[in-house]
Amino acid sequence: MKNKLKILICASEAVPFAKTGGLADVVGILPKYLAKLGHDVRVVLPRYYMISREKYDLKEIPEAMGTPMGSLGEVWCGIWEGKIPETDIPVYFIEHEAYFGRENIYNDETGSGFMDNDNRFAFFSKACLQLCKKLDFYPDVIHANDWQTAAIPVFLNTDYANDKLGKSASVLTIHNMQHQGNFYEGLMDVLGIGWEHFNFLELEFDNQVNLLKGGIYHSTLLTTVSEGYAREIQTPEYGWGLDGVVKERANDLFGILNGCDYDEWNPETDKFIVKNYSAQDISGKIECKRDLQKAFNLPINDNIPVFGIVSRLVRQKGVDILAEAIYKILSFDIQIVILGEGEVWSHFYFGDAANYLPQKIGTYFGYSNELAHKIEAGSDFFLMPSKFEPCGLNQMYSLRYGSLPVVRATGGLNDTVENFNEKTWEGTGFKVGNLNANSLYDTIGWAVYTYYNNKHAMKRMIEQAMAKRFTWEDSAKKYENVYNIAVQRRKAAIK
Ligand code: ADP
Ligand code: GLC
Repeated sequence: MKNKLKILICASEAVPFAKTGGLADVVGILPKYLAKLGHDVRVVLPRYYMISREKYDLKEIPEAMGTPMGSLGEVWCGIWEGKIPETDIPVYFIEHEAYFGRENIYNDETGSGFMDNDNRFAFFSKACLQLCKKLDFYPDVIHANDWQTAAIPVFLNTDYANDKLGKSASVLTIHNMQHQGNFYEGLMDVLGIGWEHFNFLELEFDNQVNLLKGGIYHSTLLTTVSEGYAREIQTPEYGWGLDGVVKERANDLFGILNGCDYDEWNPETDKFIVKNYSAQDISGKIECKRDLQKAFNLPINDNIPVFGIVSRLVRQKGVDILAEAIYKILSFDIQIVILGEGEVWSHFYFGDAANYLPQKIGTYFGYSNELAHKIEAGSDFFLMPSKFEPCGLNQMYSLRYGSLPVVRATGGLNDTVENFNEKTWEGTGFKVGNLNANSLYDTIGWAVYTYYNNKHAMKRMIEQAMAKRFTWEDSAKKYENVYNIAVQRRKAAIK
């Protein structure tokens, strides 16, 4: 009989409750597949203002909970319990009006991080642990995600080392190495774990407190979201200064590719698109293309290649490179649709391009799940020129929809997309190696050329793309394996 694990997943976002990016997709869906494997899995999130108690039918767990936060003293919060929709998986919400009762998750209206993000997430991390004690739920594994919860492994090895909770193993998943939670050193007083931990091995980085670094040092095991990215973050180019720290723990680091949610992203059943289609009968895709062109006010034309983009418009995603190349790219006989929000300059820049060439480029600056689905279904190519991409989800969706990804060969993009081979017609997309405006232009040109001049190869590639699967079943089994190893390690370490 397999070992049933008690697993607590702690994160700053999860679908459907709160989302800024792929982290939310992962935290919302991984628990379902762990539960299917028979584990007792639960999730903790902050109760941000937008998470409605009524909509999600949250129930209050009686009595306020106190969390000792060093120099801040005891910080009190409420606890609400809900479920991941259509499951029995408990989600606990930490409610603290001053920290989480605001419109946005991380940033103010100008796009800058909130001034008190250090205290907000240090508190949230410790509150996750206090919650275990309050619920008398002692997990075998506590799974932290990114810098916002990276203090959890640190607390488990310090404040809680002599507590029953200190027996829990910890796993920290790095979804993005760029964001590390770097703060003024005074945060040490708030963490309350003693200044002896402010050293170059543990939490100190450039005279600041670096929460991700602390988590990397203290967690029982580490994972990141693709094998490629697991290798990359050990190099200066992708390590954002922590490559040496990660390298020290290379043997404890596992690359586990995210799965794709094929219940939501499936052209055969998609509710948002005008016509469903499948690999066997792809005829509906052309109607989706017309519908997309209509949605973005572009001329309806079946015979022009449409390139789709759904992205946070930030430099990570290569939008600055795209901006540099955009007018050259638009000299091709193509159409581009952009859905995204992010750095303000990019809204103006691409918005201007759309005003200038309305027959070639359409934009929507905002968040729209419906449009995201329409773009996957209606486009011929999907553009992701990311500078780095730990995993990336959209290229997996686009494969499923037969929209061939044009991607930078990095991280998860490199692991999931196979480059077109002109001799054998193998491949599922087009890859850029060294990313710059010229190489991006060249690679898009290659895709455009193939579209117009090699219809048979295009057809073959679309079939190959649509047959690819990256399932959560597989990924969840890999997490299960890592959890089991972590539990053994923790046991051995505290004996
Ligand atoms: P990241 O987490 O770095 O933003 P991912 O590819 O892992 O990148 O995940 C992005 C997720 O956010 C995907 O589910 C994608 O469809 C979604 N997304 C991003 N921007 C938008 C948008 N403007 N409208 C709708 N969905 C979006
Ligand atoms: C991060 C990465 C993205 C990844 C997501 C989920 O936001 O930028 O590549 O897919 O986390 O792991």
